[in-house]
Amino acid sequence: MSEYWNHNTAFHPELVAAVPGPGARVLDIGCGDGLLLQRLSARAGSVVGIDPDEAAVVSARSRLAKTPGAEVLHGDFLRTEFGESPFDLITCVAALHHMPLAPALERMEELLTPGGKLHIVGLSENKTIADHLAAAAMSVPVMVVSRIRRQSAYPGMVIAEPKESIDEIRTTASAILPGHRLRRRFHFRYSLTWTKPLVSA
Ligand SMILES: C[S@@+](CC[C@H](N)C(=O)[O-])C[C@H]1O[C@@H](n2cnc3c(N)ncnc32)[C@H](O)[C@@H]1O
Repeated sequence: MSEYWNHNTAFHPELVAAVPGPGARVLDIGCGDGLLLQRLSARAGSVVGIDPDEAAVVSARSRLAKTPGAEVLHGDFLRTEFGESPFDLITCVAALHHMPLAPALERMEELLTPGGKLHIVGLSENKTIADHLAAAAMSVPVMVVSRIRRQSAYPGMVIAEPKESIDEIRTTASAILPGHRLRRRFHFRYSLTWTKPLVSA
């Protein structure tokens, strides 16, 4: 199945680089058509994707049909049981804003093994002057890079408008994921990374 570049796949290299080792168990939340899962599977022991959109799940299952250790679940991340085994890496690209923020972060925290890593690439709403200035400053460079990279849509992708600002996401994440790192990123995205402590506080 096809490879393509867009403002979400632009972050795939750093997410794939975050796979901790060849035996790692990885969960991708809101996996869409499974392109990230396919890339993660090249470095991980097993990969699980979840998405409530049936068309996305059909595409992802087809993409991963010949990939050993890959599974795509059809469902809502917040209502799905993942079995006993926790994950060494959880990724979530452009999907967190489709879910209630605090419950989704709490569930991600629960599903990580101690020492496991969370890598979120997300969208936020521009609410403050700083948000609008940051977005305005990157709009021309993003347009230029997108032309050069021949930005491609992923047809049929389920999208939603973000509701929380980056400050609101930071406040909520601070209570649930102390010590996380949240940064504004190119392509109108933010990244949130967190490592679950080895010993719970
Ligand atoms: C904008 S798309 C991003 C898809 C993919 N991560 C990518 O980067 O191309 C957001 C995805 O999140 C999925 N999604 C929405 N609500 C979800 C939920 N409760 N649990 C898991 N995935 C969800 C949507 O179905 C959609 O496929």
